[in-house]
Amino acid sequence: MQVILKQMGDCILRRCELSDIIPVIEINLRTLPEHYSDYFYESLLEELPEAFIVAEISGKIVGYIMCKIEHGFSNFKKLGFVKKGHVVSIAVIDEHRRKGFGSVLVDEAVKGVKTIQGSELYLEVRCSNNDAVKLYEKLGFSIIQRLKTYYRDGEDAYVMAIDFTS
Ligand code: ACO
Ligand code: ZN
Repeated sequence: MQVILKQMGDCILRRCELSDIIPVIEINLRTLPEHYSDYFYESLLEELPEAFIVAEISGKIVGYIMCKIEHGFSNFKKLGFVKKGHVVSIAVIDEHRRKGFGSVLVDEAVKGVKTIQGSELYLEVRCSNNDAVKLYEKLGFSIIQRLKTYYRDGEDAYVMAIDFTS
């Protein structure tokens, strides 16, 4: 059953379904250097469908966000052990950037993580990826840490996170 979360003009935001995985993989291949196996996408959909969201225009997928759930140390509370969401990947195709879709995808993922009682959401982003860093900051994420040579090509990552409890 399709779960429509939001409409923005001719774009709908809805939960990902199994049949959306191939177009999602195609967007990932075109837009980001980090790729995953088909099985990994399916396992994220099974694990956290509440925060695997696609943006669709006239039947075509134009963006996605997918997350996993983790149990681990808080990015905010000293020695706190929490259930937290982890944004594995988000992308919007070139032709449809700067229209607010990236922001609403993150918003909907935040809601999804809250519905399963996650108390934080975090992600890694290339330090050079200004567009994405700005987007996350605008939505209330803070830079928590810098991970040296996190990516295979040697680039550093920022860990950015948002706390839902404060
Ligand atoms: N230049 C400056 N600021 C930008 C830009 C840009 N080109 N793009 C987005 N922003 C910032 C702005 O603050 C913008 O708000 P504004 O338009 O009101 O100024 C804000 O982000 C939100 O923009 P949206 O339109 O909501 O974002 P968009 O739909 O363009 O998607 C995204 C942003 C997903 C980062 C897109 O640029 C993209 O797909 N990039 C390639 C893939 C990528 O880098 N993904 C993130 C990797 S990290 C990870 O996956 C965990
Ligand atoms: Zn990650």
